Order: sequence, then C-alpha cells, then structure tokens
Amino acid sequence: MKRIPCLENGIFARSTLKPLDSVFNFDEEKKKISLLATNGEWFTVSGLRRTGKTTLVRSVCNTINAITVYVNIWEIQEEEKAPYVLDMIVNEIKNQLKRSRLKEFLGRFEKLSFFCVSVGIRARNQVRLEQALRNLVKKKNVVIILDEIQEMKREEEFFKFLAALHDETAPKLSMIFLGSIISLRDILEASYSKPLHGRISEEIVLEPLKEYETRLMLKKGFEQCDVKVKDEVIREASYRLGGLPGWITHFGRIAVINHYLGKKINVDNIYDKLVKEAEKILYDEIARAISEKRKLRNYIRILKHLGEHGEITVAETARLINKKPNTALIYLTYLIKAGLVTKIKNKYSITDPIIREVLAKKEIEREIKLRL
Ligand SMILES: Nc1ncnc2c1ncn2[C@@H]1O[C@H](COP(=O)(O)OP(=O)(O)OP(=O)(O)O)[C@@H](O)[C@H]1O
Ligand SMILES: [Mg+2]
Repeated sequence: MKRIPCLENGIFARSTLKPLDSVFNFDEEKKKISLLATNGEWFTVSGLRRTGKTTLVRSVCNTINAITVYVNIWEIQEEEKAPYVLDMIVNEIKNQLKRSRLKEFLGRFEKLSFFCVSVGIRARNQVRLEQALRNLVKKKNVVIILDEIQEMKREEEFFKFLAALHDETAPKLSMIFLGSIISLRDILEASYSKPLHGRISEEIVLEPLKEYETRLMLKKGFEQCDVKVKDEVIREASYRLGGLPGWITHFGRIAVINHYLGKKINVDNIYDKLVKEAEKILYDEIARAISEKRKLRNYIRILKHLGEHGEITVAETARLINKKPNTALIYLTYLIKAGLVTKIKNKYSITDPIIREVLAKKEIEREIKLRL
C-alpha cells in the first residue's frame, strides 16, 4: 500500500513530536519556549484540551541543544505518583545518555530507583539524583517536561524535591509544566506546591485558533498532502472544529485517507466519522472531569441540557436541578474549571463543539455512568 508521508510528519500527523514547520502557528510561543528552555527557566504552558500544548512544547524542545525528558503523568495510575515520575525521569535520561557522547555520566543514574524501595532509600536516591543532575548540567543543559501536572495533587515532598533541584541546577536545568489553565493555577497556588512559589517565571497560555487561522491550517495541511480541496469544504470544516488543532488535524487525516481511497471529500461524512472516533475518549474525559463530585446526577443533567440546547443560564440551571441560583452557580463554575464550559455574557455553553455533539447523544448518561 502507498505510504502517505504527510501523515507521518506533516501538519496532519498524529504525533505530538513533529518537525517545527509542521507545528502550525504559535510563532511567538515557539520563540519564547525555546528561549526560556535554553536558559534554564521554569515555566508553565496551559490551554484547553487539544490546543496543542504537548506538541508545541515537545517539538520546540526537540530542536534545542539539551537532554530533553518528557514525562506524561496521566499515564501513571497509582495514587502516589512521585516515585514513578522520578523513575521515568531517570530512565529517560539513561536512554539519552546511552545514545550520546556523555556515557561517563550513566553510572550515576544507573543505580537510582524510586519505586519498590523503602522511603529511606527513596530519600537518599533523591539526593543522589540531584547530585547526578548537578554534575550532568555542567556538561549539557537538561529540559524536563512534566505533562498533565494536575494529576500530581498533594505530593508536597515531590514539590520540595523540585524546588531543591531548581536551586542546585539553575540556570542549566529547565522545567516546563503542562496542564489546563485552571488546573495549573489551582495546583501552583495550593499549599502543597508552596516550595515552587517564586520559582516559576512565565505562564504561557495557548488559545484556540481563530477561524481564519483554522482555514489556513487546513489549507496548508492539505497542500502538504497534495490533496486538492474546495474552498467551501475548508470554510465549512473550520466553522465546525472550534479552532482546536487536535480536531483540525484529526479531520484532515480522515479527509486525506478518504481521498487516497478514492472517496469524495464530504464534510458531513468526515465530521460524523470524527465524532464517532472521538466518542470513547470524550466519554472518559467527561466522566473523569466530574468523577470526584457528589450529586453526579445534577452534573449529568446540566451537561445533557447543554448538549441538546447549546447554552444555559444560571436561572435555567437552578430550575433544571431544582436548586437555588447560588447553588446552580457553583455547578456551572465547576464545569468551567473542568474546561468543559465557557461563559459568555450571562450564558454558559460547551467549549468544544465535538464534546457538544457527544453530549447530545441519547446514550450519554449510560456511557458516563459506565465509567464512574
Ligand atoms: N500547532 C499544531 N500543528 C500541527 N498539529 C498540531 C498542532 N497542535 C496540535 N496538533 C496535533 O493535534 C493533536 C493534539 O495535540 P496535543 O496532544 O499536543 O494537544 P494538547 O493541548 O496537549 O491536548 P491535551 O490537553 O489533550 O493533552 C496531536 O495529534 C497533534 O499532532
Ligand atoms: Mg497534552
């Protein structure tokens, strides 16, 4: 079968590590991230889901002269995550040292392990890790990307370790924290992350693309794939994708594959396929967003209403869940915090158009409950 290179490393590729010219837009942010990471700054990059945080940061850091470590905390299921994060950092550094000319540093990292060891050994290993990194950064800068940092709740010891690491390695080790805007703020202002206060120098926020930017991204993506697409297809698609690079590239991929299968590019069909493919992940995301809440039924009711009607006011919410407006406001504020809802004037609506599609499905309640 024919390979389609643009889906391997082009704008529409699924990967979160791409050549920089396949990371569309965000030119200012690219420069800034590169400068900050090269100079050992500690900073945050936040934004709604699918705005492209991971892709932007990984792809930029891949171009700078440093040992870059990427850890996705979302992958760790255990309650206490710190030992796993530290092990992932150690393993990634080892992998990179093996491939570099700095093999003499390997020994110091090889002995370190954090899970399945006693707390005492863990503490000692933290000191050893700090020393090993302090030595390594004399030779080469290190950049550590911690993705989905909101998963790291209440682990004060971990943040204490990071603070010490910051002070010992500055300005040769950069740490980048990724997460949603609101969860990052919550985490970094919490008392357990106090050790980090004053050590984060910048907060970069990624916004969804404007509609004309979405059109341009689709156009460039299709051009890279050598697929000719009518302007009205681009216009209609960009209107429906909410400016979210994750959906724009997913749409592009389906369209390109259709094209190579000899099918006509039809926005409705591609959009339906996109929603279908995204459905399961989105049920998981929605369930995870509200899972810690009591009164789940009320949340589900509000979300279902939003799926069907598109928007809701505080008074309507109060009526829907049979509570006072003050209480209704608490529900809506939480949904904003979870990144699901946006407030414009006095109306609340679903931020992401594909999530709205999913919320409008009749099986939504069953699917969410299945995952709680
Ligand atoms: N600027 C961009 N140019 C090209 N492709 C992009 C861009 N931003 C994101 N993508 C693509 O969109 C998808 C989602 O991006 P990514 O995972 O980086 O988003 P995210 O903001 O980290 O999302 P999440 O909050 O779910 O982790 C990936 O497949 C990625 O390749
Ligand atoms: Mg991400």
